[in-house]
Amino acid sequence: MKITFLGHASLLIEVENKIIIVDPFITANKKAKDIDVNRLKADYILLTHAHQDHILDAELIAKNTGAMIVSNFEIVTYYGKLGIDGHPMNHGGSWNFDFGRLTMTNAIHSSSFPDGSYGGNPAGFILETKEGNIYIAGDTALNMDMKLIPMQCKLDMAILPIGDNFTMGINSAIIASDFIDCNKILAYHFDTFVYIEINHQEAINRFKDKNKELIILEIGGNINL
Ligand code: NI
Ligand code: MN
Repeated sequence: MKITFLGHASLLIEVENKIIIVDPFITANKKAKDIDVNRLKADYILLTHAHQDHILDAELIAKNTGAMIVSNFEIVTYYGKLGIDGHPMNHGGSWNFDFGRLTMTNAIHSSSFPDGSYGGNPAGFILETKEGNIYIAGDTALNMDMKLIPMQCKLDMAILPIGDNFTMGINSAIIASDFIDCNKILAYHFDTFVYIEINHQEAINRFKDKNKELIILEIGGNINL
């Protein structure tokens, strides 16, 4: 499994010869100006919730690539009306896709579309594959439901928001890594806006103090699992 960081909460995951894009927010992200959204390939687009900083480029990528949107029922219905293929899910549900098994998890956040209309419940995803298991938390607060994850799945890595203000910050993310029983964390949802700027080295050191690994990728950088 190869995971490329596309900036903010956007990821490109290559697994089982499929390409999965998560929460694409690229064209309005000045920090991601080197990512050419029109050159991205995708078989699936996973959307954790309907906020602009997670769905902005989903329509463009879906129309460029024919990728299927996997998200909550309300978001899939919204894109369905635009002629985009989708697979609806909801919290606690799993489905075996051709890339692996996906489970939708709880997230404590909100999920309105940019026009204010209802965007379903915010979520995260557990992705179980032959090439490893990861948890993509989505925008969320630290929450006790995270303790259910290691009862269902042994994680190899977790992708957690660490930018604070809108989501967990570093303190909560360290506790979350205990809750999910995973000490290898890839950071996301930081630095894009002034409210979520962090000190990278300090964040890495704080995790190291707890014998945990925090990975912070450059935009366009990748990690192999
Ligand atoms: Ni959000
Ligand atoms: Mn967000």
